[in-house]
Amino acid sequence: MTKRSLILDCDPGQDDAIAILLALASEEEIELLGITTVAGNVPLALTTSNACRICELAGRPDVKIFAGASQPLFRKLVTAEWIHGNSGLDGANLPDPSMPLQAGHAVDFIIDTCLAAEDKSITICPIGPMTNVALALMKEPTIIPKIREIVCMGGAIKELGNTTPAAEFNIYVDPHAAKVVLDAGVEFVMMPLDVTHKALVTPERLQKLKDLNSPVGEVCGGMLDYFNRFDMTRYGFDGGPLHDPCVIAYLIDPELFKGRRVHLDIETASELTMGNTLADWWGIEEKEPNAYICDDLDVDGFFDMLTKRLARIKA
Ligand code: BDR
Ligand code: CA
Repeated sequence: MTKRSLILDCDPGQDDAIAILLALASEEEIELLGITTVAGNVPLALTTSNACRICELAGRPDVKIFAGASQPLFRKLVTAEWIHGNSGLDGANLPDPSMPLQAGHAVDFIIDTCLAAEDKSITICPIGPMTNVALALMKEPTIIPKIREIVCMGGAIKELGNTTPAAEFNIYVDPHAAKVVLDAGVEFVMMPLDVTHKALVTPERLQKLKDLNSPVGEVCGGMLDYFNRFDMTRYGFDGGPLHDPCVIAYLIDPELFKGRRVHLDIETASELTMGNTLADWWGIEEKEPNAYICDDLDVDGFFDMLTKRLARIKA
C-alpha cells in the first residue's frame, strides 16, 4: 500500500477533530496535503476555526487549511448543534486559534492540487457534506483521472438513518453533492453508519484516551465526554460512535474493515427519503458495482490503533 497524498474535507465536529488528529499522527501512511472545510455540523466559520484549533492543539500550525462552501448545492443548510454543541467542538475547551487560514477557496485548492499531481495519486476524504468535492468535480472535471480514491464517511445501508429515518447526516445535508461525487466515476469507498455505530467510545476506551496524560488526551476526553451523551441517550449505545476517524483508519489499515463492492444510488427527489443511500447489497438488479461499502470493522483493532497513534502527539 503506497503512502496516501490526502485532502481531508471536513466539518469539525468532535469526531472530525479526532480524524484530523489521527491523520496528523500517521505520517508513515498519510501525507496531509491540506484540510478543506465545509458547512455541516455547524456553520462554515466555526468548522474552519475548529480545524485550526485542532491543528494548533497538535502543534501543527503549518497545516494548510482552506475554507470552502458555506451552504449545500441546492438545499438549505441543516446543522447538528444538538449533537456537537453550539461551537461544534463543545467539551474541547480550546482557545481561539491564531494560525493563518490559506487565502484561496477550498474548491480551488482541491482543483489546483489535483491538476498538479500525477494520475491516480490524490485521495480525497470527505467526512462532512460533500459540497466542496462536488463543486471541484463540476468546475474542473479534468481532475477526475488524478484522483486515486474518494473515501467518505456517510450513508446507512442496512442501518436506519441518524438524521431522518432514511438518511445519515452528511448525505442528508447535501444529497445532490453526494450524487455528483458518486457519479463522477472515481473509485468510491463509503464508511456508513453500519460500521461507525460499532466504533463506540465505551467508558473503558474513553479512559484509555484520557490516560494518555497529554493535551491531546485531555481534549479528546473532554470532547468525547460531551459527544457521548447524545448517542447514549438517543440510541442506548454504550458510547458515542467515532464516525469520521473510521475513514482515516481505513487509509492506514484497510484490513481492519470488511465490505463489499456493490451498486449504490442516492435519493435526491423524494422529500420523505431524501439522502437515502440505496445499496444493492445482494446484486438484485445486476448493475455494475460503483462503490466499495464497508459494513464491519475490528473494533478493538481500531481503538488500539487510535489510542497508540494519538499517544504520539506530545504537543
Ligand atoms: C456524520 O455526521 C456528523 O455529525 C459527524 O461528524 C459525521 O461526519 C455522522 O452521521
Ligand atoms: Ca463530520
